[in-house]
Amino acid sequence: MDKILVTGGLGFIGSHTVVELQNEGYEVVIIDDLSNSTEKVLDGITAITGKKPIFVKLDLKDKAGVESFFKAHSDVKGVIHFAASKAVGESVEKPLLYYENNINTLVYILKELQKLPSASFIFSSSCTVYGQADELPITENAPVKQAESPYGNTKQIGEEIIRDTCKVSSSIKAIALRYFNPVGAHESVEIGELPIGVPQNLVPFITQTGIGLREQLSVFGDDYPTPDGTCIRDYIHVVDLAKAHVVALKRLLEDKNKENYETFNLGTGKGSSVLEVVGAFERVSGKKLNYKIVGRREGDIISAYADTTKANEELGWKTKLTLDDALRSAWNWEQKVRG
Ligand code: UD1
Repeated sequence: MDKILVTGGLGFIGSHTVVELQNEGYEVVIIDDLSNSTEKVLDGITAITGKKPIFVKLDLKDKAGVESFFKAHSDVKGVIHFAASKAVGESVEKPLLYYENNINTLVYILKELQKLPSASFIFSSSCTVYGQADELPITENAPVKQAESPYGNTKQIGEEIIRDTCKVSSSIKAIALRYFNPVGAHESVEIGELPIGVPQNLVPFITQTGIGLREQLSVFGDDYPTPDGTCIRDYIHVVDLAKAHVVALKRLLEDKNKENYETFNLGTGKGSSVLEVVGAFERVSGKKLNYKIVGRREGDIISAYADTTKANEELGWKTKLTLDDALRSAWNWEQKVRG
């Protein structure tokens, strides 16, 4: 079976994707620098799949290290590239760190892929490239808007770098997957999200409040032009998202792609408000969540959810799990980690 490199394979979405790849029989090699993960995640992956992936601890900014990796693993057929920094606020404080971490590393990998006879490349992009879209649901044809943060900009620039590379390197085929809001954990509770410090994202903040680690969730604004006044997002279960990576990779490996570079939105197609997510948590946990409405968070968009037609029809992929499934698994995971 094909050997697939997963960078950032010990992270939240990476680890769930490694599980799905191994379940499909792929041989997985993980590169991770452990900057936002731990080696223990390997045990979780092994417990679920019965197979320990190869793990190489490497910082992808080490260009020589990347070259030697590809010399040692010249039989790699595909790469799923998750490794990146992703904290929006930090990226505003330290833009160059973000450009170095997210752009240099991408360039080094693509340079190595150019040397291979053929390579399939999947890129972790984000719906953040659309900003506040004028039309909902958001299709892949919606215009890419000026990025709100250096983090968002690295995703836009990353996509452009890949598109330009595919134009001149016919041996490289690529798909950029634009994720909406990934949440939840593997149902086995062997792997899940492990935020460092105070979580910035809604669902880990909710589960940490539920377990008593945080006193109260602040709901950022209830005066938006939405039915209940809180912002709307498209929360996608991380296991559904992970499966989409395997489907996209197969499309490239089996030459089923229509163009050398393609983009797909990955979401459920359904928008949920902040208060609906709180409601889902309360339903699945049987607990009342302590929350209060506070002012708006700067830079938040009002509403974003995916038009899933292209992913459904072209990839033949659809989400199967619900918001309640996601909150239930996230809650089970929180209880396991802190319980
Ligand atoms: C955020 C980032 C986005 C990034 C994505 C990655 C910002 C402005 N956007 O998206 O660029 O791609 O994470 O996952 O940081 N909320 C609360 N209270 C909280 C936390 C969140 O009310 O303590 C609300 C937010 O206002 C928002 C929703 O929950 O309406 C989801 O927030 P979050 O999980 O941070 O995701 P995004 O804002 O969609």
